Amino acid sequence: MADDPSRPRVFSGMQPSGEAHLGNYLGALRQWVELQESHECYFCIVDEHAVTGGDYAPADFPSRVFDLALSYLAVGLDPERSTIFVQSDVPAHTALAWLFNSVAAVGELERMTQFKDKSRSLESVPAGLLNYPVLQAADILLYRAEWVPVGEDQLQHLELSREIARRWNARFGEFFPEPQPLIGGVGRILGLDGGSKMSKSLGNTVGILAGPEEVQARVRTAVTDPQRIRRTDPGRPEVCNVFTLHGLFAASDEVEDVATRCRDATRGCVDCKRILSDRISGHFGEARERARELSARPGRIREVLDAGAERARREAARTLGEVRERMGMRWRGLEGLA
Ligand code: TRP
Repeated sequence: MADDPSRPRVFSGMQPSGEAHLGNYLGALRQWVELQESHECYFCIVDEHAVTGGDYAPADFPSRVFDLALSYLAVGLDPERSTIFVQSDVPAHTALAWLFNSVAAVGELERMTQFKDKSRSLESVPAGLLNYPVLQAADILLYRAEWVPVGEDQLQHLELSREIARRWNARFGEFFPEPQPLIGGVGRILGLDGGSKMSKSLGNTVGILAGPEEVQARVRTAVTDPQRIRRTDPGRPEVCNVFTLHGLFAASDEVEDVATRCRDATRGCVDCKRILSDRISGHFGEARERARELSARPGRIREVLDAGAERARREAARTLGEVRERMGMRWRGLEGLA
């Protein structure tokens, strides 16, 4: 339950890139939904991280946030149990990030793989790109979260969050826990091209709220075993991304059957993809239904995010107050003198 001190606290966030896709779901959301059973969860839409690359369209931004919120709720993140909110609705994130900038070192920020990858091609590198992991540390530590479900690609950022916590504690007194990664997702999900990570910007995804026909149309484009040219050629499930996806949506005996019928060529790729499409759209039937109900009441999403932000702000204010106090930014005990 929200504000249940007996449950270990979790924080995680996702950038607002609109409707969630299979990669977001398998790599994160599916696990988040389960964590709600056992943990006190904060699930954030990190819009302030999303502007750090510098180049984005402000006009599209509100719908990117709204559509991700819709996906959060559609898959079963539950505002009764979890605190679901937008980062920029809680100003303490950037306030704490600023304070952490005094314990984070430029050298270690420059060594972050993500920073190196993203800044390489830019002529002018926004400072926000460098400070991105400082804001991420603030997100997590603001709620003194102990557990952070993240993908492999975020482990380095999380290690830096721990380093920031340690360094701050050493300087200003033991206060922040060192947040640990929770690696429970399925790891890197390849896109339909079978070559690169599933990502909206590469156009190799399937939206989780896509209807059955759209899922069919998307999955039809998926790359399979390149050596299986004719329908009668035996396939190699172990090199086929469509097979990997079956593994994430079907029971183990069904997966075994997919493999067998690929190897002995009793089923062709077209049929195999059709079956996968049905499994995917079947899996998200309930989510589509919830999304449909929510879309009919757009005010409801705003209400959920407002209530989440209010809860988050309350908790955040406690931490920020304590941090400022310990950093010498507030007088205490002198109230009567003014
Ligand atoms: N950097 C994360 C990503 O790209 C998003 C993120 C921002 C995050 N703040 C966070 C994830 C805090 C976990 C905890 O996936």
